[in-house]
Amino acid sequence: MSNQLEKVRELIELRAKARIGGGEKAIEKQHAKGKYTARERIAQLLDEGSFEELDMFVEHRCTNFGQEKKHFLGDGVVTGYGTIEGRLVYVFAQDFTVFGGSLSETMSLKICKVMDMAMKMGAPCIGINDSGGARIQEGINALAGYAEIFQRNIMASGVIPQISGIFGPCAGGAVYSPALTDFTLMTEGTSYMFLTGPKVVKTVTGEDVTQEELGGASVHASKSGVTHFTAATEEEGLATIRRLLSFLPQNNLEEAPLLNCTDPIDRIEDSLNEIIPDSPNKPYDMYEVIGAIVDNGEFLEVQQDYAKNIIIGFARFNGQSVGVVANQPKYLAGVLDSNASRKAARFVRFCDAFNIPLVTLVDVPGFLPGTGQEYNGVILHGAKLLYAYGEATVPKVTVTLRKSYGGSHIVMSCKQLRGDMNYAWPTSEIAVMGGAGAVEVLYAKGAAESPDPAAFMAEKEAEYTKLFANPYNAAKYGYIDDVIEPRNTRFRIIRALQQLQTKKLLNPAKKHGNIPL
Ligand code: HXC
Repeated sequence: MSNQLEKVRELIELRAKARIGGGEKAIEKQHAKGKYTARERIAQLLDEGSFEELDMFVEHRCTNFGQEKKHFLGDGVVTGYGTIEGRLVYVFAQDFTVFGGSLSETMSLKICKVMDMAMKMGAPCIGINDSGGARIQEGINALAGYAEIFQRNIMASGVIPQISGIFGPCAGGAVYSPALTDFTLMTEGTSYMFLTGPKVVKTVTGEDVTQEELGGASVHASKSGVTHFTAATEEEGLATIRRLLSFLPQNNLEEAPLLNCTDPIDRIEDSLNEIIPDSPNKPYDMYEVIGAIVDNGEFLEVQQDYAKNIIIGFARFNGQSVGVVANQPKYLAGVLDSNASRKAARFVRFCDAFNIPLVTLVDVPGFLPGTGQEYNGVILHGAKLLYAYGEATVPKVTVTLRKSYGGSHIVMSCKQLRGDMNYAWPTSEIAVMGGAGAVEVLYAKGAAESPDPAAFMAEKEAEYTKLFANPYNAAKYGYIDDVIEPRNTRFRIIRALQQLQTKKLLNPAKKHGNIPL
């Protein structure tokens, strides 16, 4: 064998060694937990054969605690680039089979390299987390490594989409990188996120709690809102990340891909002319409205189990990607509260940062009153949504279906918050407040003096409702651009979005605003 061939053979052997990470036994252990390895995950995430790996020969430099005797090529993370539906993405996946995927100084350098490349090339960065946290033997160098990653997450925010898959443990300060990214997805039963684990919780607070109860996927999907998506399996999780990217542009200077629309743009949806119940207190399902108007009924919901009184997610109109924000009358009557406001505000800002138009469907009775909300800072949380809509310069199309009262009317992308096209169904009630509340304020004295207070109030309420509970008062002043037939909603939104394609609106130059965080 020639010298050259010998060297090629050596390279092939080294590559094979790198590809088995922590070794066959560790891989078996990983599989036994129902988890794939880092390379298997990347292979499923990316287009077949598109992955180009980087830094396969990187090794850690630690000499503490006998580490100098333990070396694995690649050092616990697989990094590189490839394509999803033919579009460039950068990716890193922690390899739990090597030191439990724990973060070393050199692992951080590998991750930072792909993040820097993603920024330079203007392409999304996807991280698959499965790690025991900072590599304990490396001490402060591991912490510095995390900080380098966080700094890059911050600089990349609003420039390239950043997506975190949590496919195993994610503990300690490590959770802050996913929290800084745009979307987080957790696998059910095999992943968890927390700042301090159950043992520390027990020591500090005395509370007995399991990992799942403390930071499992369902907890973060429904209680904390930390995760945007959950998946029953890793396959499903990786498919969701692929699907999510189909709605997003590569970076903040591009538009989301325009797909060929197979759903007629002038599709009339007669059912919408009868969807609003006669009684204003009866709910209907906003998902039915969304499903009826968007292309092929396809809707990728974000945070579906958190603050269900508001619905957010991605859909398309005539092939164009949009962010949908909609009150859900079926849940807490669609009221706005702290959690719903925060949920929608972050989504609106994401869409605005990445040039994705906003379609807002309104049926909101108001903000949830009471000490629970006030003590929780609903003023600040509601202001977040107000700020997000007011700041957004992307095309904004609003359709009011039924209730739109008081402060919540303003917050939900009203005309004065630079709503571009504001439509209302004839069933809309756009007013300062609902009839019952209004007559309580206006006629309490009159009712007390009346021989039949109940009849007096009912009469006044009917009068108020007739006068104000309609779209025409708002339309009279141009606050509503048109009152539309519900069944034409799809067509009207598509036309509005087409018209708005060349919209140009700039906010005043500033370092950054001061959103009420
Ligand atoms: C070095 C680690 C490690 C770590 C795991 N390993 N975590 N090595 N540093 N942080 C090693 C284990 O020693 C073991 O090595 C192998 O990875 C697999 O781990 P197991 O414990 O066998 O796996 P499992 O039973 O599945 O448990 C996984 C785990 C547990 C729950 C993650 O390993 C664990 O509790 N690790 C420590 C978690 C932690 O406290 N991390 C530090 C957080 S502080 P061998 O050689 O036996 O196979 C932090 C600060 C970050 O992260 C701050 C950022 C700002």
